[in-house]
Order: sequence, then C-alpha cells, then structure tokens
Amino acid sequence: MHKYPDYFHLFLGGPGKVAELVTVNTLPCTILTSKILSKMVERKSGIIINISSASGYHEMAKWSVYSGTKRFIKHFSACLHKEYSSLGITIQAVCPMFLATNMTHYSVTKTILSPEALAESAIKTLGHTSETAGSIIHELQAIGLSFPSFFVDPFISILSKTQKQEILEQQKMK
Ligand SMILES: NC(=O)c1ccc[n+]([C@@H]2O[C@H](COP(=O)([O-])OP(=O)(O)OC[C@H]3O[C@@H](n4cnc5c(N)ncnc54)[C@H](OP(=O)(O)O)[C@@H]3O)[C@@H](O)[C@H]2O)c1
Repeated sequence: MHKYPDYFHLFLGGPGKVAELVTVNTLPCTILTSKILSKMVERKSGIIINISSASGYHEMAKWSVYSGTKRFIKHFSACLHKEYSSLGITIQAVCPMFLATNMTHYSVTKTILSPEALAESAIKTLGHTSETAGSIIHELQAIGLSFPSFFVDPFISILSKTQKQEILEQQKMK
C-alpha cells in the first residue's frame, strides 16, 4: 500500500518501495496459484479466492501502483476463471471497499466492515460469481466507482487529499 496517496514520481521510498509493492501485491498470488492449479486439475476440483480491491475497478490518480496491482489480480483471476471453470475449478476475485484493518487503521462502521464480516458475506457468493466486492454495501459503493471518471475522480481527489493530510499530521505527532 502507498504510505499516502501522491504523485507517482514522489512515491515515498522511491523505486525500491515501488518494486516491493508491485512484488508483494502480485507475485505471491500468481506463483501460488500456478503451483496449486496442477493438483486441482488432477482432482478436477478446487477453489481459489484472490484478494483484489475495489481500487482495481477505477483508475485512481495518486494510487497508481496500488490500484494497478489490484487491477492485475482482478483481471488475472477473471482470465483464470474462464480457463478453469470447465475443469471443475472455481476462481474468484474479492474486491472490497474500505475495511477496518492494520492497513487503513479505520474503525468498523456501517460501511467500513471488519475483515471477518466481509469474509462471512463474501463466502456466500462462491459459485455464483467470479468477482465480488464481498458484501451488499460494498457492492453498492463499488457501483459508484464504475461511473464515468468526470463524476468519480473529484471524490477520489478529496479522499486522497484528506488521507494524505491525516497521515502527515499523525506522523508529525509521533
Ligand atoms: N483494508 C482495506 O480497506 C482493503 C480493501 C480492499 C482490499 N484489501 C486487501 O486486503 C489484503 C490484506 O490487507 P489488509 O487490509 O488486511 O492489511 P493488513 O492487515 O495490513 O495486512 C497486510 C498483510 O500483508 C503483509 N505485508 C505488507 N507489506 C508487506 C511486505 N512488504 N512484505 C511482506 N508482507 C507484507 C503484512 O505483514 P505484517 O503483518 O508482517 O506487516 C500483513 O500480513 C491486501 O491485499 C489489501 O490490498 C484491503
């Protein structure tokens, strides 16, 4: 995850941190999926759930690397779903909105779910859809991200500015 949203050339930590984020967000999932598929093909059954993010639904300025890697997971999973569904293997991408985790430091609210609540709801969609935001409330929020950029981008811009300010203020207080 980016420390805070910013222009790509100002990415905190420079190219090394960029490489780390791309690696952590894409490679393990890709390699583990390739490893496990052979066994699943043999057994003609299996389920793979990859965690993407709703940030993969929209081209988010100042979040380019995170949003891009999450798009990769969503796209990769959708391709694999097409390849393997006829072989008895279910592949799903879960693309949640905000959750209350160490990454966000948000508290649980009506729209910011705990990972447990999201998982409990998302698991019910298995076998029904190859891609889900994971819960009804996140699905509704994600629809907003599919609106045209001229509508969505101003909201993302405000969110990014607020997040950057909050994080910089927290860092000053430390
Ligand atoms: N939180 C959200 O709002 C949200 C929304 C949509 C999707 N997601 C996705 O959910 C997944 C889990 O995130 P989370 O929100 O649960 O965050 P989290 O609680 O901070 O968990 C992130 C995990 O990734 C590991 N990690 C982070 N950077 C790493 C690095 N450079 N090298 C190795 N391991 C690293 C962390 O290890 P340590 O514990 O050792 O630091 C931790 O286990 C991510 O793929 C995220 O994109 C989160």
